[in-house]
Amino acid sequence: MKPISRLDMFDHAERVLKINDMGTYTVPTHGLYPFQWNWDSCLTALGQAHFDEHRAWTEIDTLFQHQWEDGMVPHIVFHKQDKGYFPGPDVWQTGRTVPTSGITQPPVAGYVVKRLVDHARDPDLAEARARDLVPKIARWHEWFHACRDPKKTGLVAILHPWESGRDNSIDWDDAFSRVPTDGVGEFKRRDTSHADAAHRPTDEQYKRYIWLVQRFRSLNWDNTRLHDASPFQVVDPGFNAILIRSVADIAELAERYGMTGIAQMSRRHVAEGLAALESLWDDRLGQYVCFDRPAGRKVDSASIGGILPVFAAIPLERVQQLATRIEALKARVEYLIPSHDPADPRFESLRYWRGPVWLIINHMIIDGLVRGDVPDLIARITSDSIRLIEEGGFAEYHDPLTAEPCGGGTFSWTAAMIMEFLQIVEPVRAGS
Ligand code: GLC
Repeated sequence: MKPISRLDMFDHAERVLKINDMGTYTVPTHGLYPFQWNWDSCLTALGQAHFDEHRAWTEIDTLFQHQWEDGMVPHIVFHKQDKGYFPGPDVWQTGRTVPTSGITQPPVAGYVVKRLVDHARDPDLAEARARDLVPKIARWHEWFHACRDPKKTGLVAILHPWESGRDNSIDWDDAFSRVPTDGVGEFKRRDTSHADAAHRPTDEQYKRYIWLVQRFRSLNWDNTRLHDASPFQVVDPGFNAILIRSVADIAELAERYGMTGIAQMSRRHVAEGLAALESLWDDRLGQYVCFDRPAGRKVDSASIGGILPVFAAIPLERVQQLATRIEALKARVEYLIPSHDPADPRFESLRYWRGPVWLIINHMIIDGLVRGDVPDLIARITSDSIRLIEEGGFAEYHDPLTAEPCGGGTFSWTAAMIMEFLQIVEPVRAGS
């Protein structure tokens, strides 16, 4: 692969976003992911806003046009038929006019919308679009609190590893081993014809992914029943931090726009979430960990999901502790931040969410670290992210030891995040 020069990087990123642009939505990459993905789209909009704010808002509007009546925003919208992806609409069978999957993804929309508003070059456009989106996003947040936290613990559970956005993280291994595979039937994976099988989840994991889909489908995707019916319910600190952050950002926008009810309700959820998040702190690892709800125990797994809470307004002391944690990881990799601690024997540098670096995660962690007094660490994560692209191109994710590009190529959110990183190091160029 031809190395990408830093001088050309911004324009190159813009080209990637344009190649993947389908008009009103953007695919993560052609071939491997040929539809609209929820958090990919929202984070991609941050990149689009650098060159076309209208287009960025449309990206999020399109996603929310497919919000379910109960408030959920699905993780995939299947705008067009494409036989190259499994599991497609025929497996999900959610009964929607434009088919969607039946599960959700990390709710970054609230965060993204506030960021678009705060950085807008066209504030009138931003306010008009945000005013329309805020109540929809708030409804999605309420859906989470009602359907994924039925006992009102302050924290929500994911019911499928795909909901976390960190599909095959080591975090899920224990809980996932309780998901049966019998009766799943034959199926043909498509991902491994687009990407190296050694970089992807295993066949055994795929059977369990599909078992859960079939289970939820048998309940007609009734979200009032799915939580209790799922053998897999994991409270992920990273996912919850994203939710808490988005709820807080929506509270702020709602307040600005005089949407008092939404503002008050959101503030209450933020306070409850932040208080409950503390229960996931693990002193031994110096980071947060997941909680396996049916088993009633914490999960011993040092993943990036436990560092991501820096993205929410956690106590400043915790921000410092998480910075110390990242400093420790620095000695174990060439490029920050690995999605799993290499000191753990289960770490795999090339396999998806079991070790590789993902720029979207670096972006959110940097955003959170700004609250701490760690400029050198922020500079290091930023320059590592840019070096990864210089050496490995706009891949889906990269090996933290060698920068080897992995998964899909010409990836939308990688390109969008690079535009954000370049803005940190060259604010005038990227912001112009
Ligand atoms: C994979 C990732 C997920 C992402 C999707 C599309 O499933 O794990 O986070 O949204 O691909 O890029």
